[in-house]
This record gives sequence, C-alpha cells and structure tokens, in this order.
Amino acid sequence: MRIHIASKDEISTDHLRNILTANKFLPYAEYGISIDCLINYIVRNIQDSLEKGSFVLVAEEKNNILGLLVGGKSEWDSKHFGIEIAIIRYLFTSGDYYERRQCAKELLASLSAISKFKLVISRSHTEDIPLVHAIEDSSFQLMDTLVTYYFDFKNKISDFKESCKIEPLKDEMPELKRIAKTSFSEASVATDHFHADHRLNEAKSDSLYEQWVEETSKDKDNVVLVAKIDNRPVGFTTGKINNQLNNYSNKKIGSLILSAVSLEYRQAHVYTSMIQTGLRWFSDKVDIVDLGTQIGNYSVQIAWQKLGFRIVSSRYTWHKWVD
Ligand SMILES: CC(C)(COP(=O)(O)OP(=O)(O)OC[C@H]1O[C@@H](n2cnc3c(N)ncnc32)[C@H](O)[C@@H]1OP(=O)(O)O)[C@@H](O)C(=O)NCCC(=O)NCCS
Repeated sequence: MRIHIASKDEISTDHLRNILTANKFLPYAEYGISIDCLINYIVRNIQDSLEKGSFVLVAEEKNNILGLLVGGKSEWDSKHFGIEIAIIRYLFTSGDYYERRQCAKELLASLSAISKFKLVISRSHTEDIPLVHAIEDSSFQLMDTLVTYYFDFKNKISDFKESCKIEPLKDEMPELKRIAKTSFSEASVATDHFHADHRLNEAKSDSLYEQWVEETSKDKDNVVLVAKIDNRPVGFTTGKINNQLNNYSNKKIGSLILSAVSLEYRQAHVYTSMIQTGLRWFSDKVDIVDLGTQIGNYSVQIAWQKLGFRIVSSRYTWHKWVD
C-alpha cells in the first residue's frame, strides 16, 4: 500500500464515500443520524481542519482508499503545556481485522515519520478492536476511557426538582475558576488523560480546566450555568449547540461539556440540578443532548441515569511521546 499526504482535491465526498461507509465507528453514528448526513459533515470537517493546518494521510492500493488519518496540531493544548501536541482527529480503515490493523499501523508509522510533535493524542472507539490493537502495536499508552450518554427530547424530562438556584453566568468567573481548579486537581473524582500522563506537568494539568471554563465563557455559542447557594456560586456547567454538525444533520445536537461542584457542597444534588436546568435550556433548541466523562466518574453517571440519559458509546484516549 502507498501512503501519501492528500491534496485538497482528494478531500471530497466522492473520494471518501467508500472508506467512510466501510467504517462502523463514525462519530455520532449511534444517534440515528443518516449516513449521508454524517459523511457530508465529516468531509466538511476534514476540509475545515485542512484549512487550519491539519494534514490528511491516505493509504491507497490500486486507486482504492484503504485508510485515512487526519491529524494536526492541538493548538490549545500545545500552548497550555508549552510543547508541540498533535491530535489524531480521525483514523478510518477498511477490510478484515488483519488488513485494518496493518493499515492503521502503517498510517501511524507514517505520521511519526513526518511529524515534529512531541506528544500525539489519539482516540478510538472501544469496539474498534483492529484500531485498538494497531494503536497498542504503535506504542501508545492508554490514558483514559470515556463514556458518552445522551438524552432524546422525544422522551419527557424527569420531574426532578432542583435543590438550588441555577442561573446563567454574570460576573462570577473568578469563583468558577477557583471551583474548576480544585475540582479537577486535589478534589477530582476521576482521572482525565492529562492527569494520567505523568510526563505532562502536573500543575499545568491542574490549571487546564480553570482556563478552559474562562475560554468557554468568551464564546457566545456556549452557555455557562452557575449554581448558587446563599447567593454564592457553588458549581457550574457549560453547554454548546453543535452548529457545525447541525448544519448537516436531520437531528439537532447540543452538548453539556464541563461541570464542577465545590467540595463543601457535594452530594447535595447541586450537580444533578445543574444538568436538569441544562436540559431545560436545550429543550426548545435541539433534539438530543449528549455528555461524556471518564468511565470511573460514577457520581455523574448516577445523575444522568436518574434524569433519563442513556449510554450510547465509549472511547479510549491514547498518548504517545515521540523522543
Ligand atoms: C462529579 C461532581 C460534579 C458531582 O457533583 P455533586 O453535586 O456532588 O453531585 P450530586 O450531588 O448531584 O450527585 C449525583 C449522584 O451521585 C451520588 N454521589 C455524588 N458523589 C458521590 C460520592 N462521592 N460517593 C457516592 N455517591 C456520590 C449522589 O448521592 C447522587 O446520587 P443520588 O441521586 O442517588 O443521591 C463533583 O463531585 C465534582 O465537581 N467532581 C470533580 C469534577 C468532575 O468530575 N466533573 C464532572 C465531569 S465534567
């Protein structure tokens, strides 16, 4: 098989239809979105990332595309940690188990050969066994396992009553940053892939979410909801409507993304209340709301199930350091 960097012209629905259709693990496939919508969205997404400096590696044999790897610099993480970090956005292959494993291995080896990155981050569906084995063969290390749940508004929102006041963000960002900093470091309940990687600076992994919540609030497409007790902020959750996907999809999707509750107010249903309010906020805007976490974060999964969310997918996060 021949592996080459794809030109812009090769990134079209016509060129990529077969390889995308052959893949059982397209993102959002579990949401009941039609395959044509998904293909159009993914191709557009690859074209956009190409414009922003990503690269696409294509594995080809006799003019057939056997595999595709889309990767690029993870700007935000690279800036935060002060090292060149690459993220593999997509890795698709076709064929039987052996062909897919071999093709993914060769694509990953080609990426290492052309890349100047210090750390490469990749994700794989947990059921994509040929890809999981190829990633292991290529000396990546497992850093976390993520589970995704969703709520479909064709079901009724539960009648859970919020235990505290939840309001959109006004000027509480300094308190939210403090909550984020402690919640994802000394008072964390599950280990994210940054904290799991002991070669990353721990203080920087600790401060990541504090910066993340602040950046999130600057984007007008995001909503930040603040939980208050005695008029003091005690927790927050952030959400976003997935406009890019929704342009292509017959179902509109929104996501609840980052949440935390200050240590003194935990186990008082503050989190469950924020997610319930988040659902209400989304209820006249989208058809589906999704959210995700590390598999070991049991508290949030208890809350999601209580509010009517259902599990839909799971993914591994992998890191490889290039010395
Ligand atoms: C995860 C987190 C947001 C939960 O907040 P919270 O306000 O304590 O959650 P809730 O009180 O709504 O609890 C939800 C359920 O989990 C249970 N639960 C919460 N913490 C628990 C614990 N430490 N042990 C056992 N059960 C726990 C609650 O009892 C509740 O179940 P119930 O409805 O059957 O009583 C909070 O611990 C936190 O900020 N953690 C660090 C950051 C994080 O992991 N964020 C989420 C990922 S984005």
